[in-house]
Amino acid sequence: MSLAFPIQAKLKDGSPVQLVLAGRRDIEPLRALYRIIVDEGTSYPHDRFPDHDDFLDYWFRGKTTVAAYVPDGEGASTMAGAFYLKPNWPGRARQVANAGFIVAPEWRKKGLGWLLGATMLEYARQLGYRSVLFNLVFSDNVHARRLWERLGFKELAVIPGAVRKNDGTYQDAVIMFQSLR
Ligand SMILES: CC(C)(COP(=O)(O)OP(=O)(O)OC[C@H]1O[C@@H](n2cnc3c(N)ncnc32)[C@H](O)[C@@H]1OP(=O)(O)O)[C@@H](O)C(=O)NCCC(=O)NCCS
Repeated sequence: MSLAFPIQAKLKDGSPVQLVLAGRRDIEPLRALYRIIVDEGTSYPHDRFPDHDDFLDYWFRGKTTVAAYVPDGEGASTMAGAFYLKPNWPGRARQVANAGFIVAPEWRKKGLGWLLGATMLEYARQLGYRSVLFNLVFSDNVHARRLWERLGFKELAVIPGAVRKNDGTYQDAVIMFQSLR
């Protein structure tokens, strides 16, 4: 069955959520959400917020970006999460996808990460990708690692001491992979 955006779904607490293919109007909400993630410093490599161009490169240019919106209770909606999907390499290896996920702190543990991950896998298949590779899953990010394993990813390798933590010590990073065939 092929995915057609926007996708309507419900989170574990019954909140309705809408997944949309992101465009211009989603840039500012996504920037605000990614700022929180960079400030947390526990899941993405940026140690300071990227400038406008770097942010667009990281989240939009050459990528498929999907954003999740939930009602804000005042008749509007707020971005609760997002993912990007892109070729991990160009040319002959472009059928290996790479993806990145974020969920706003107040919307975590409600099944949105799982919904975004499952949607990414289905959409990646639909776009013709043959597999998905995560290059840099922080080893301390145990909830993400468990979530990716439950979605079918296997840990391929560990990069020792790849990531500087907020306290100045280093943690490993894990490379995770899933074939879509
Ligand atoms: C990782 C992340 C995307 C997960 O999103 P989420 O919406 O919380 O995911 P889910 O609600 O689908 O949770 C998946 C499972 O992990 C559990 N979980 C997630 N965060 C948890 C936490 N802080 N404490 C305890 N359990 C947690 C959930 O309960 C759920 O388990 P269950 O299905 O058995 O109940 C989100 O925490 C996040 O955005 N973190 C910061 C960015 C990040 O780490 N991105 C991934 C980089 S590899």
